[in-house]
Amino acid sequence: MSDPKPPPRIIAIANQKGGVGKTTTAINLGAALARKGRRVLLVDLDPQGNASTGLGLLRDDRPVTSYDVLLGDASALSAQRPTAIDGLSVVPATTDLSSADIDLTPNENRSRLLRDALSPAALAAGEFDHILIDCPPSLNLLTVNALVAAHAVLVPLQSEFFALEGLSQLMMTIRDIRARANPGLRIEGVVLTMADRRNNLSQQVEADARETLGDLVFRTVIPRNVRLSEAPSFAMTVLDYDPGSTGAAAYIALAQELLARESIQTGVAANV
Ligand SMILES: Nc1ncnc2c1ncn2[C@@H]1O[C@H](COP(=O)(O)OP(=O)(O)O)[C@@H](O)[C@H]1O
Ligand SMILES: [Mg+2]
Repeated sequence: MSDPKPPPRIIAIANQKGGVGKTTTAINLGAALARKGRRVLLVDLDPQGNASTGLGLLRDDRPVTSYDVLLGDASALSAQRPTAIDGLSVVPATTDLSSADIDLTPNENRSRLLRDALSPAALAAGEFDHILIDCPPSLNLLTVNALVAAHAVLVPLQSEFFALEGLSQLMMTIRDIRARANPGLRIEGVVLTMADRRNNLSQQVEADARETLGDLVFRTVIPRNVRLSEAPSFAMTVLDYDPGSTGAAAYIALAQELLARESIQTGVAANV
């Protein structure tokens, strides 16, 4: 008999700042992992639903959403929709999710809803290798649910002046969640996004991040590349929209680096 498949690795893509590249990373890292033969589920946990739209799911095509999954009204397996990328499916989001913070407040179990929904018992064995959670731009109950459910958090950091300042708040939240609900939560890494290596400021942010955070910063840097911002309006990932672009190459490299880190980390205790 072969060994049972390990449960999927759950990675929350989080940063409370908006516009730093969370959704772009969720979509294109998900696609790059799927291209490498991994089966990937992207859970869209942002009421704006940008990941769902970017992957081609029209509003009418979202009968069951991540909110239904949080509420336990639908399973993640029944809510997932296929995408144009083989091996990548998505649990879509709609604006319904924007009332979650208030609706869920009376629920005693409110910060553990996603963990229950994505538990090995709730998923068919071997269905997914990775689950990526695209978080909203806030440290609200939705992001808390993602961090409680996740094995690791991946932080996109925009290469701009105040980028590192916002990070301490996120790190505090992560420590708090480790203490209260998820002691094994790791920081998968910080990925610099929208970098322009010809620009002094961008170089300085990268140097500061590497000095402050050391090996937590991925070697791979995502450049500013207009193809990355154009692709979602064609409901495509950058890997299909422009496979030869610097953006596509960067997300393929990020997927490779992530998989390499995972194989090193297996069995290692939580860092930081
Ligand atoms: N590396 C990049 N190069 C150029 N544009 C980018 C890049 N990453 C993201 N963008 C664009 O920047 C905007 C914000 O990115 P997004 O991924 O939606 O951020 P978030 O999910 O953190 O709010 C979007 O319009 C997106 O297309
Ligand atoms: Mg987003």
